[in-house]
Amino acid sequence: MIDLRSDTVTRPTPGMRQAIANAEVGDDVWGDDPTTRALEEEVAELLGKEAALFTTSGVMANQLAIAIQTRPGDEVIVGEGAHVMWNEAAAGAALSGVQFAVAGQDGFFTADDVEAAIKPRLNWLPRTSLVCVENTLNRAGGRVFPQATVLAIAERIAPHGFGFHLDGARLWNASVATGLSVKELAAPFHTTSVCFSKGLGAPVGSALTGPAALIEEARRLRHRWGGGMRQSGILTAGARYALAHHRARLVEDHANARHLAELLSGPAARAAGIFVDVHKVESNIVNIDLDVAAAPVVDAARDLGVLISATALRRLRAVTHLDVSRSQIDEAAAILRRAAEACRAGHE
Ligand SMILES: Cc1ncc(COP(=O)(O)O)c(C=O)c1O
Repeated sequence: MIDLRSDTVTRPTPGMRQAIANAEVGDDVWGDDPTTRALEEEVAELLGKEAALFTTSGVMANQLAIAIQTRPGDEVIVGEGAHVMWNEAAAGAALSGVQFAVAGQDGFFTADDVEAAIKPRLNWLPRTSLVCVENTLNRAGGRVFPQATVLAIAERIAPHGFGFHLDGARLWNASVATGLSVKELAAPFHTTSVCFSKGLGAPVGSALTGPAALIEEARRLRHRWGGGMRQSGILTAGARYALAHHRARLVEDHANARHLAELLSGPAARAAGIFVDVHKVESNIVNIDLDVAAAPVVDAARDLGVLISATALRRLRAVTHLDVSRSQIDEAAAILRRAAEACRAGHE
């Protein structure tokens, strides 16, 4: 099977398994796990923040960021399709009692869009208290949120004293795509989450970074939410290995995504009712639009050996990663064309 459903499907490499097997561990709730402490220090340093907290998932890191920077009844400004609003099981509402206000389009928004979404301070309106940017943008197909816009938003919201959070689940990809360091990309934000279990290929884990006092508050909440871990060095050894060995190779995933996009944007693909905009492929995600329903194409592709996900009625999403090679991309493109053709033939 060629698995293009997500970059979360990767399995630990032999080197990573070795690092995990050899991890020095202790009880992290007591602050005794040396591997986890080392990871947290490394990540804080890498992102230019005072402190970092290892979390079980990107969802937990994002939701901790929301919880520590809002009060129940507040409003959080996000882009269209933001992961924190769509894909986190309504945690913002359930755990922090916040609602979301959507700014801009397709995940992108400008300082003017933010300004338009800010609620005036009137007692019958929700209180805006946090703005959240995603980089790279998942639903928009791995596109990069422009840093100049981030800086303009930071400047515009500073007088209001809002929190500014970056969902950087794929910040490593944004860094490789732009040539800017993760430190530069994270600099305008108070808090930033990053994931080790996506393109970097670790089995588990994310981190939340930010000012020491906020991160201490997040540590307390993480425990309250059942996310305090004991010998977490078993997990953080995988994350440390991923940081050291799998960042630079993300360029290969980006090249593979572009290659897939090119294979699916030629005349043969168009004849099969497949439409891909190569110019929108900036990292490791390819949005593939179809002229038939996506669900039957997913099933047909699975029968032919490709796993892929449907993210809208007529849209597929393919994600490249550590466990897909260039030749598998060639094979996957051919299979996707066949699957789409078969579904169109059945449809006619
Ligand atoms: C943009 C974004 N943020 C957060 C997450 C959540 O990460 P996790 O699956 O580790 O909870 C994801 C997962 O795909 C994501 O794409």
